[in-house]
Amino acid sequence: MSVPQTRQRCASCGHELSDTDAHTRCPRCQGLLELHHPEPTGGGAELARLFDQRLAVRTGPHASGVWRFSEMVLPAASGDIVSYPEGNTPLLQRAAVAEWAGVSELLLKHEGLNPTGSFKDRGMTVGVTQARRVGATAVACASTGNTGASLAAYAALAGLPAVVIVPQGQVAIGKMAQALAYGARTLVVRANFDRCLELADEASERLGVYLLNSINPFRLEGQKTIVLELLQQLGWEPPDWILVPAGNLGNTAAFGKALSEARRWGMIGRVPRLGAVQAAGAAPFSAGFHEAFVRRHRVEPHTLATAINIGNPASWDRAVRAIRETDGVVTDVSDDEILEAKAVVDGCGVGCEPASAASVAGARRLAREGVIRPGERVVAVLTGHVLKDPAAVTRYHVETAPPPPRANRPVEIEPSLEAIVAALQVTARHLRS
Ligand SMILES: Cc1ncc(COP(=O)(O)O)c(C=O)c1O
Ligand SMILES: [Zn+2]
Repeated sequence: MSVPQTRQRCASCGHELSDTDAHTRCPRCQGLLELHHPEPTGGGAELARLFDQRLAVRTGPHASGVWRFSEMVLPAASGDIVSYPEGNTPLLQRAAVAEWAGVSELLLKHEGLNPTGSFKDRGMTVGVTQARRVGATAVACASTGNTGASLAAYAALAGLPAVVIVPQGQVAIGKMAQALAYGARTLVVRANFDRCLELADEASERLGVYLLNSINPFRLEGQKTIVLELLQQLGWEPPDWILVPAGNLGNTAAFGKALSEARRWGMIGRVPRLGAVQAAGAAPFSAGFHEAFVRRHRVEPHTLATAINIGNPASWDRAVRAIRETDGVVTDVSDDEILEAKAVVDGCGVGCEPASAASVAGARRLAREGVIRPGERVVAVLTGHVLKDPAAVTRYHVETAPPPPRANRPVEIEPSLEAIVAALQVTARHLRS
C-alpha cells in the first residue's frame, strides 16, 4: 500500500509534480505551483494536540516555530532541515497601540523577532531546506530587502552560494547590510522591485539557480506558520481578524492557505477574516478589491515603506482566493498614517519597520469605517524589526519633526553637568506642556 505524499499542483492547469521536483513554476504552463499535503488520519484536534506537545521541545527541528508544524509544512523533510531555529515570536498586547487604533482587543504578532529580523525566515527555512532536497548548487531571489537578508543568512547556514537582486536606492540600510554581511552576491539594479523579480525569474532559469522568491510554493508553506502559531498561542480559538501588510501578496496567500487547511482539517471551528493592508502609493490589490477583482491592476509604486513598494504583486491570484475564502477585505493607508502608527508601536518599546506598521494603521482605518466592530479581537502582524530601517526613524524624528508628544529630537549639548540639567529641564517642561 502506498503512503500518501505531499504533491505540487499547478494552480492554473492542475498538472502535478512530486515534492522533490526542482521546478519553481509549472513546466507545462508556467503557472504557480501549490503544495497539497496528505490529511492527518487522526483529525485536526489530534494534530493540534501533537503541535501543543512539541511546545516543550527545546532541541532539534521541532524546537522551531516553523518545523513544530511540520505535518502542515513539509512532512517529508527530516535530516536535511536548515533551521536556526526560527519563529516562536510573541503575541503582544500594548494598551497605547490599542487605544490609538481604537481597537480594544488588539494583539501584535511580532515577526520582527525572527533570527534575521523579519517573517521571511519562516519561508526561507523551508525554501533553503527544499533547495538542499532538490540538490540546488546556488540560490537566488529578487528582494525589497528582507527576503535578501534572510536568503543570505540561510544560504550561509546551508553552505550554498546566494545571489540577491535589489532595486537601486529602494532598500533600507539594515537589510542591505545583512545581505552583504552574510555573504550574498548582491546585484543592485537600476530599476524597481517588479523588474528585479522578472530578472530573477529569467536568470534563475538560464543559470540553473534555484529561485527563492515567494512564487516558490515552499516559501509559502513556511509563512503559513505565522497563522498556525498565533492560533496555537490563542488556544486554537481564532481571533475575529488577522491584519497583514501586503506587497507581493505572499503572506496574504499563505495566511489564506493556512486558514483553509486548518478549517478543513478540523483544527479550528471558524475562519478569521483576513485584512490585507497596502500603502496608498502601492495599492494595486486594494484597487482590485474595490472592484470585486474583475481585473488585475498594476501601478508604478511610490511609498516610503520600501518593503511593500511593489506595483505588480506576484501572488495576485492566490491572494484573491485567500480574501474570498476568508470573507476578507483589502484596504490602503497613506504614508503619514503608516508613520504615525509606527511612532506609536515604536514609542511603547515594541518597534517595527515602516511597512509593518501598515497593519496597525489598517486596524485604525477599518475600525473607523465600522468594518472592524467594537469588541472584535484583532491580531495585527508586525512583519519586520525597527532596526531594519534606522533612516526612517531619524528622518521622522529629526527631519519631519512631528508635533509633541511623538517628536523625539536628539539634543546636542556641551560636555558639562549644567548642560545636562538644562537640557533635561527643557525636556521636563516640554513633557508637562
Ligand atoms: C517587512 C515586510 N512587510 C511586508 C512585506 C510584504 O509581504 P508580501 O510580499 O508577502 O505581501 C514584506 C516583503 O518584503 C516585508 O519585508
Ligand atoms: Zn500548469
